[in-house]
Amino acid sequence: LTFYLFIYLFIIIILFYFFFFFDLLAQLYNHNFFWLGIKENGGGKPYGEIKKKIEETFFSFKNFKNQFTQEALSHFGSGWIWLILKNNKLKIYQGHDDQTPLKGAIGHPILTLDIWEHAYYVDYRNARSDYIKEWFNKINWDFANYNLSVSLEGQC
Ligand SMILES: [Fe+2]
Repeated sequence: LTFYLFIYLFIIIILFYFFFFFDLLAQLYNHNFFWLGIKENGGGKPYGEIKKKIEETFFSFKNFKNQFTQEALSHFGSGWIWLILKNNKLKIYQGHDDQTPLKGAIGHPILTLDIWEHAYYVDYRNARSDYIKEWFNKINWDFANYNLSVSLEGQC
């Protein structure tokens, strides 16, 4: 019995280690990606390839902004809202908790918004919509254009 208990505990510890390790790496990646996607005096309307691509998929920037905002507002609990490229088309993807579009080849990340409460509660309390608005005022479109260019090369 002791032997089986030992094996059982061993498996539990290994599983826990792998899942926890994945969460750690995913959160590290997601946050880096989030910070690179914003800058002081960023925001405004998109330009370059990302502008064309947004209009191709969402018809207008305004429409994209509305759709992205809606998804970010309606996401229950903690997570990340992503703009991704899949099969050469832009998509909005809601990742729950530590989910990242890299896992399971969901798509190539272009931009991401952290909507865990810790991201906005200090400045905005529960006004998540104000935080989303402010994120749109800070988007680094150069970073989005760069991600788009490398993902188009890879035909993600
Ligand atoms: Fe965060």
